[in-house]
Amino acid sequence: MAILGNKQEKTYDTGDLKVPVSLGVIMDGNGRWATKRHLPRSAGHRAGAENLKELCRNCGRYGVKYLTVYAFSTENWSRPEGEVDQLMKLFVEFFDRYDPELAEEGIRVRFTGDIEALPEKIREVCRTGEERSKDRPKMQLIVAFNYGGRREIVSSCRKIAEQVKAGTVDPADITEQMIADNLYLPDVPDPELIIRPSGEQRISNFLLWECAYSEFWVSDVLWPDFGYEELTQAFRDYALRDRRFGGLSKKESKK
Ligand code: IPE
Ligand code: IPE
Ligand code: MG
Repeated sequence: MAILGNKQEKTYDTGDLKVPVSLGVIMDGNGRWATKRHLPRSAGHRAGAENLKELCRNCGRYGVKYLTVYAFSTENWSRPEGEVDQLMKLFVEFFDRYDPELAEEGIRVRFTGDIEALPEKIREVCRTGEERSKDRPKMQLIVAFNYGGRREIVSSCRKIAEQVKAGTVDPADITEQMIADNLYLPDVPDPELIIRPSGEQRISNFLLWECAYSEFWVSDVLWPDFGYEELTQAFRDYALRDRRFGGLSKKESKK
């Protein structure tokens, strides 16, 4: 890896790294970032949105295929109205402002969450964003907005319950695969790695079903400052993880 002063030069060489096909990122710490700078929380959210563009570029260039980012949880409605309004506005602005850059990087945009419950203006952004980007080949950016893992599982159960009611499925035949197939985006692989900046060691209702065997990587760096170097370090550490899925490590099973 080339070194430039104290900073790594941006190369996307994957020699000693392992790049996940599917990556989840909990974009946390905007408020603390702003408070540290004596700025309003809104400034932190703005800086966080800017940083998402950077993460997309870096992940696309490293070869991630599915990047799921947690942008607004079903619990975030409990914040003051002004903050919620600003987060909604930023969401609309983000796609207006950055879509050309996402297009240049070949990034397709999709949304996951209780989108139907959002105001029409937001749903319109989701529809337009998905439609205009659907043929972009390099990476899918999946934005979890008004997303809650529990709500997603409930939604899957409801779809299956409809089939039971219609008499096409017997409750005894419900499988894990059926629940997975009825989640919001069943074609997106479970994340192999989930990154959480700003030090909190919890999942906060993110991808509850999908994270059953995800590796976690927590960083103390606040989301707006989380950059190429931290991402690269996460991929380097991920290369050293021994994923056993309840079995034995490769070394052990050869004995
Ligand atoms: C993440 O940053 C953004 C959202 C949850 C929408 P926070 O706003 O949670 O920032 P902290 O955790 O208060 O620092
Ligand atoms: C998780 O962050 C949700 C998002 C980043 C969108 P929170 O700040 O809402 O999580 P908690 O409250 O610290 O668990
Ligand atoms: Mg937070």
